[in-house]
Amino acid sequence: MNAPLIDPFARAIRYLRVSVTDRCDFRCVYCMSENMTFLPKKELLTLEELDRMCSAFVRLGVEKLRITGGEPLVRRDIMTFFRSMSRHLDSGALKELTLTTNGSQLARFADDLYASGVRRVNVSLDTLDEAKFARVTRWGRLPQVLRGIDAAQKAGLRVKLNAVALKDFNEDELFTLTSWCASRDIDLTFIEVMPMGDIGNEDRIGQYWSLKDLRSQLAQNYTVTDLPLSTGGPARYVRLEETGQKIGFITPLSHNFCESCNRVRITCTGEIYTCLGQEGHSDLRGPLRSSESDAVLEDAIRAAIALKPKGHDFDYSRQEVDGQVSRHMSHTGG
Ligand code: GTP
Ligand code: 5AD
Ligand code: SF4
Repeated sequence: MNAPLIDPFARAIRYLRVSVTDRCDFRCVYCMSENMTFLPKKELLTLEELDRMCSAFVRLGVEKLRITGGEPLVRRDIMTFFRSMSRHLDSGALKELTLTTNGSQLARFADDLYASGVRRVNVSLDTLDEAKFARVTRWGRLPQVLRGIDAAQKAGLRVKLNAVALKDFNEDELFTLTSWCASRDIDLTFIEVMPMGDIGNEDRIGQYWSLKDLRSQLAQNYTVTDLPLSTGGPARYVRLEETGQKIGFITPLSHNFCESCNRVRITCTGEIYTCLGQEGHSDLRGPLRSSESDAVLEDAIRAAIALKPKGHDFDYSRQEVDGQVSRHMSHTGG
């Protein structure tokens, strides 16, 4: 195990989230605006540059690598990158190679992902109602995603659903989603909606469904047992004893988890965001392109980690949106 990067608050950075594209075939309302301007291709890190970047982080102690987007599976030739990253699993330096996806392309790529050493995928899915799904994604098609989930399971991948908890949207589906996941042996994580991007007409305070409330609702119907931390991600997990299924809660609003933060994010243009909930970032593409020496890149990474803030300032408790960041969630892949 390589020695980890340590941030100013003595947190070890073991988890890297890498966005490989800003594009997505959906436009989820809380993640992107309807009319996004996408980056010209020449701005993006090439697959070779992404490889160099991730490999530098692995040398600096990263053990978990999550590929994100936009939608990572719409990036051309992305399987070449996954295959290449699998060498870090083979060497034992990397413990997990995984991705967060909207599921639309999983039917096509599930077998290749498994062959590249991926064992788990997180699929963003907030509703099992086709009309609601089309509304929240602006034009996504639910059956396509469900076929993707089936294909992932057939390929041997463990599937976890990420559902953004939205009061006026999927509150009525809490038990449907829970039992649907139980019947298919799928894990389920709920996420509190964060104030990111151009919020436009969205009413974040009105939409906000505290996961404390959601958990109490579950506890009225199931026996809920806390589980020890396991994935190295921000979710806290419980087991529902009646079904044996795992439910996760990501609670940036109702229960800040920044104290145990272990992660940083790279955008598809090679910026590093050391906190999801802050605007501060540093450029790594310049150092990456300026020299063939990895020492230059590694120094730039260390310098960026030295600026990692204590945490986000998201807060709805005054019944106002505080701590909003203007960047869309899609820029850093969640
Ligand atoms: P596991 O490895 O399965 O635990 O996944 P993960 O939670 O690390 O990754 P995933 O991509 O499924 O994350 C789900 C969502 O949680 C993200 O898209 C974000 O919306 C949110 N999230 C992840 N990391 C952070 C974080 O550091 N801070 C905040 N505020 N939210 C985060
Ligand atoms: N608040 C909370 N979660 C969000 N996601 C996207 N935008 C937001 C937001 N504003 C989630 C997606 C996906 C992951 C990448 O981030 O649903 O699961
Ligand atoms: Fe880490 Fe920032 Fe997320 Fe808090 S908001 S857990 S500090 S990335």
